[in-house]
Amino acid sequence: MEKLVITGQTPLKGEVTISGAKNAAVAILPATLLIDGVCTIENIPNISDVKISCEILEKLGAKITWNTPNEITIDTRNINTTVAPLDLTRKFRASYYIVGAMLGRKGKIQVGMPGGCKLGARPIDQHIKGFEALGATVEVEKGNITATADKLVGNSVYMDVVSVGATINVMLSAVLAEGTTVIDNAAKEPHIVDVANFLNTMGADIRGAGTDIIKINGVKKLSGNSTYSVVPDQIEAGTFMLAAVASKGDILIKNCITKHLESITAKIIEVGGQVEDYGDSIRVWCDRRPGKANIKTLPYPGFPTDLQPQMGVVLSIAEGTSIINESIWESRFQYTEELNKMGAKITAQGKSAFFEGVDKLYSAPVYSTDLRAGAALIIAGIIAEGETEIYNLEHIDRGYENIEEKFRNLGAKIKRIKE
Ligand code: EPU
Repeated sequence: MEKLVITGQTPLKGEVTISGAKNAAVAILPATLLIDGVCTIENIPNISDVKISCEILEKLGAKITWNTPNEITIDTRNINTTVAPLDLTRKFRASYYIVGAMLGRKGKIQVGMPGGCKLGARPIDQHIKGFEALGATVEVEKGNITATADKLVGNSVYMDVVSVGATINVMLSAVLAEGTTVIDNAAKEPHIVDVANFLNTMGADIRGAGTDIIKINGVKKLSGNSTYSVVPDQIEAGTFMLAAVASKGDILIKNCITKHLESITAKIIEVGGQVEDYGDSIRVWCDRRPGKANIKTLPYPGFPTDLQPQMGVVLSIAEGTSIINESIWESRFQYTEELNKMGAKITAQGKSAFFEGVDKLYSAPVYSTDLRAGAALIIAGIIAEGETEIYNLEHIDRGYENIEEKFRNLGAKIKRIKE
């Protein structure tokens, strides 16, 4: 078992370079199944969710070459099975994208029911509704999803909830369908635009990604033969922005798209942090105890649920009482119990949590309950008095590349120990 040991009370100072976006990469990789050819993807984050995605693609017949730790070439000319490795697909969430992509490529696929962070109910009814609207038959039985279609035909799909996964998945299934698909009430996250840009670079015809209406004109074939670079990770950038505020530090965050960070910037300024925006990098610093703020998580361009726990650390030491309302996931306050072990005073009730700010946090052994909870606990360890131990690192490794090295370069006293 591995743990992180952090000696706290360090203001983070210096520069950090953001990696490619996890939630874009884990969709772009399955999207390569729609290509009957070879493509190269740059700025791939080297994280465990990406490695599992690659393993699944290889089991389906793709040939993957790692040119560098952050660049791969994928040859998808020989996709030779319609059954994905069930155990691997159960390991993480984004395996549901195999369904949309393989419906497009082969008209048939079986995958294990997707796993991923335990954040409460994670239904896939909107994905299924979209596939069925295009003419597929979908069965969910004995922990597996089986989808088949003799032919996919474009249609109108209205999303009853704004869903990142369902928007991307229906887009994937529509790329090679006959005719036009219109997704209404689509999600607008930067990674949705990135997946659409990737597919268009490979020969698809997708318009409107980034707005709530996406139109996909089906094409006959995606031939690839192109190189694409994954968008910088909005959530990783936001994690370091909030770490700068919590630790009263001063960080220049490089390789990010600051337009994607506006909701975070607004809240940082509200709590007394300072921000200088250079377009593709952003400097965040804070020289005072943060003030209180109320947050409601929302789909993009609202405040992202994936930064809610990291913001929670800032509010746990803020002057006054703050409220966070979590509107996306029903169980995303599990980290508050861990922060309370470190001296925070947080009461979580249903979709809301009340943060009575304390002067400081103290070290304690804590457990990462999911990916972003893990990032929040690292920030908590960096600002806490004493030596904090963090367990369950597999969650953190799923989504953050070289996380302790990046924090160490900013001055954090953090080491990974094998027990
Ligand atoms: N929902 C439905 N039906 C569906 C799909 C979703 O009711 O068919 C509901 C969900 O229960 C949730 C809301 O819609 O209440 C939004 O879910 P969404 O589908 O947008 O989430 P997701 O696609 O499963 C992705 C990210 C999550 C991130 C959410 C929200 C990936 C692989 N995962 O999940 O990322 O929290 O969007 O932005 O892209 C993370 O990176 O830590 C993470 C959990």
